Amino acid sequence: MIRALSFCILLSSYTAAQLSLPDPPFLPPNASAGTVPSNSSARSPNAQWSTLLGDLLYFYDAQRSGDLPDTNRVDWRNDSALDDGDDVEIDLTGGYYDAGDYIKASFPLSFSLMSICWGALDFGRGYELANQTAYLDGMLRWGLDWLIKAHASDDTLYVLVGDADTDNAYWGGDENIPTPRLSYQVNASHPGTDAFAGASAAFSACSSLYANRTFGSTGPLSLHNSTYSKTLLSHATQLYDVAVHASGGQQVYQESVPEVADAYGSSSYEDELTIAALFLSWAKDDDSLFDEAEDYYDEFSLSDDLRGVFNWDSKAAGLPILFAQVSNATGHGDATYWQGQAENLLDGIIDNDNGATLTGGGLLYYDGDSDSCSLNPALNAAMLLTKYAPLTSDDQRQKYTEYSDKQLNYTLGDNPMSVPYVIGINPNAPQNPHSALASGGTDIGRIDDSPEKEAYILYGALVGGPDKSDKFFDVRRDWPQTEVALDYNAPLLTLAAYHVLTDEDDPFYVTLEEGAANAHRPKGAPCDAAIDDGCNLPGMSRRGIIAMAVCVGVTGLVVLALFATWFYLAWTR
Ligand SMILES: *[C@@H]1O[C@H](CO)[C@@H](O)[C@H](O)[C@H]1NC(C)=O
Ligand SMILES: *[C@@H]1O[C@H](CO)[C@@H](O)[C@H](O)[C@H]1NC(C)=O
Ligand SMILES: *[C@@H]1O[C@H](CO)[C@@H](O)[C@H](O)[C@H]1NC(C)=O
Ligand SMILES: *[C@@H]1O[C@H](CO)[C@@H](O)[C@H](O)[C@H]1NC(C)=O
Ligand SMILES: *[C@@H]1O[C@H](CO)[C@@H](O)[C@H](O)[C@H]1NC(C)=O
Ligand SMILES: *[C@@H]1O[C@H](CO)[C@@H](O)[C@H](O)[C@H]1NC(C)=O
Ligand SMILES: *[C@@H]1O[C@H](CO)[C@@H](O)[C@H](O)[C@H]1NC(C)=O
Ligand SMILES: *[C@@H]1O[C@H](CO)[C@@H](O)[C@H](O)[C@H]1NC(C)=O
Ligand SMILES: *[C@@H]1O[C@H](CO)[C@@H](O)[C@H](O)[C@H]1NC(C)=O
Repeated sequence: MIRALSFCILLSSYTAAQLSLPDPPFLPPNASAGTVPSNSSARSPNAQWSTLLGDLLYFYDAQRSGDLPDTNRVDWRNDSALDDGDDVEIDLTGGYYDAGDYIKASFPLSFSLMSICWGALDFGRGYELANQTAYLDGMLRWGLDWLIKAHASDDTLYVLVGDADTDNAYWGGDENIPTPRLSYQVNASHPGTDAFAGASAAFSACSSLYANRTFGSTGPLSLHNSTYSKTLLSHATQLYDVAVHASGGQQVYQESVPEVADAYGSSSYEDELTIAALFLSWAKDDDSLFDEAEDYYDEFSLSDDLRGVFNWDSKAAGLPILFAQVSNATGHGDATYWQGQAENLLDGIIDNDNGATLTGGGLLYYDGDSDSCSLNPALNAAMLLTKYAPLTSDDQRQKYTEYSDKQLNYTLGDNPMSVPYVIGINPNAPQNPHSALASGGTDIGRIDDSPEKEAYILYGALVGGPDKSDKFFDVRRDWPQTEVALDYNAPLLTLAAYHVLTDEDDPFYVTLEEGAANAHRPKGAPCDAAIDDGCNLPGMSRRGIIAMAVCVGVTGLVVLALFATWFYLAWTR
């Protein structure tokens, strides 16, 4: 009797752990719905932007690992990887598969969670207006609750489950994922300063969100939960502490866990340490942590790094924006100085003075970083511009939001291919995402045509994107162009929430003619790190580089090496 009762209590507290979900649930409409203009007399919020936001969140449901809840909306997904953590005798089930494969990686996950929570601190009311707050809550908790498990003791953080090599040799569904899946950790004697600090920043940013400690008054009102916020803050505090004080010193995490290097090796830890201090200062309303973050910024000369991309590996470009926001909101620090730093950075992006150029079609392109996921750096830049815009003068604001909208429009179909790069939102969207989950195939040698048509539509997934000449081939094996990933969707969520909040016009793709993408289909074949058929250089052997993780530092080096070889051959012919 008593057992039954406490079981009930447990069960009800478990089910109450989330906001109640809409009934009936939100499900992505089919692609043809993305051609129907929304009712012009009822456009606030705009139904198409609301649907896009819903689809983008739905992608994360499709990426879930572990024991799926009764409320699972993705009917073709199964419980999976239920033994994760067995090798180290803890429960590491749950969380998300990071991309088109089946590894679970804390470092890029932390970045995605930080980015999404930060975006909701700015424009969270967009989720509210679109009736998506409960799904945002579910999405965040599925990641954060796993990261809590991965933070197995004060100074232990699991950074990888599954092995990139084994995983890359597997192409198939979620019922036969190869085992054993090993679990790799960093700890006090074998630290990963970036991994500790990155996870701390995610916990702090999300703790602030659940505390309703938003920037401006646009946070998601119903997400407020001080219990959960406090839990997240305690993890943030412990992880920051071990990032600073680990007995093994400070170093990038692949020094301790070389197995992460292929997929998600990190180029430095100074940017994570700084953003962790800054987000923690915001979460705790602690001026001395803000000062600490400023000290790091100077000590590590991070203003020198402002010319690079903002992504899962490099956070420096986000710092002036966040410093300006926190300084503005708290009155602490020199808000004018930080605005100057932020505007230097953002003007540099707009003036092509920060290491990037525009493609012929108008996509912001960073050689190297953009080569294996062209949309991600551009969308992260657009996100920073949009975030910062409320803090500046009317003129600057207009300049920043217009530039951001151009990058967003490009992503949503205003490009030479007439392809909106989000799966399932329009008939012109890509049909062949590189996703072992969605493909339905089991033959790694025939990724492209077995089966002929991808088995499941991976609604809401942004793909890597076109090449530097704006060409997109929609080939499944071509991971630089068609892979999907947790961090790809993150900036787009923030931008979509902003547009739900502010934009009465439909997203660009609604105007695309059905068949437009077919009419603009490029000739030839890709020339990138996965497929070189289009490179037209004799003497090159075909390389079947399949499904390395995504757009990552070390893969980036492989790409550079390949290009170097091609150029060399081209010269010496
Ligand atoms: C707040 O979060 C806690 C911890 O996850 C959960 O137990 C509780 O049910 C939540 N409360 C509400 C009102 O959602
Ligand atoms: C898409 O949805 C519309 C409206 O619900 C329906 O009329 C149409 O048949 C659907 N198309 C496909 C291909 O399922
Ligand atoms: C469009 O919105 C107006 C105002 O809400 C409503 O009266 C009208 O019925 C809607 N039209 C359609 C076709 O849904
Ligand atoms: C949100 O839910 C309310 C109440 O059910 C409904 O009236 C409204 O149309 C929904 N908005 C969107 C964008 O789905
Ligand atoms: C989930 O299981 C069903 C039934 O066995 C199977 O048809 C489906 O392909 C599985 N899903 C994935 C993603 O493998
Ligand atoms: C600390 O992490 C290193 C690197 O992952 C690992 O080899 C070592 O066993 C860990 N230490 C403990 C006490 O688990
Ligand atoms: C959250 O903060 C906003 C102001 O930013 C306020 O309007 C709202 O009432 C707060 N919500 C809760 C649940 O505390
Ligand atoms: C914060 O930004 C707003 C909008 O630009 C401005 O009005 C306000 O003065 C700023 N506050 C501080 C402390 O800088
Ligand atoms: C983006 O596309 C929308 C919808 O077509 C359009 O109204 C807007 O002017 C475009 N913005 C820019 C900056 O091109």
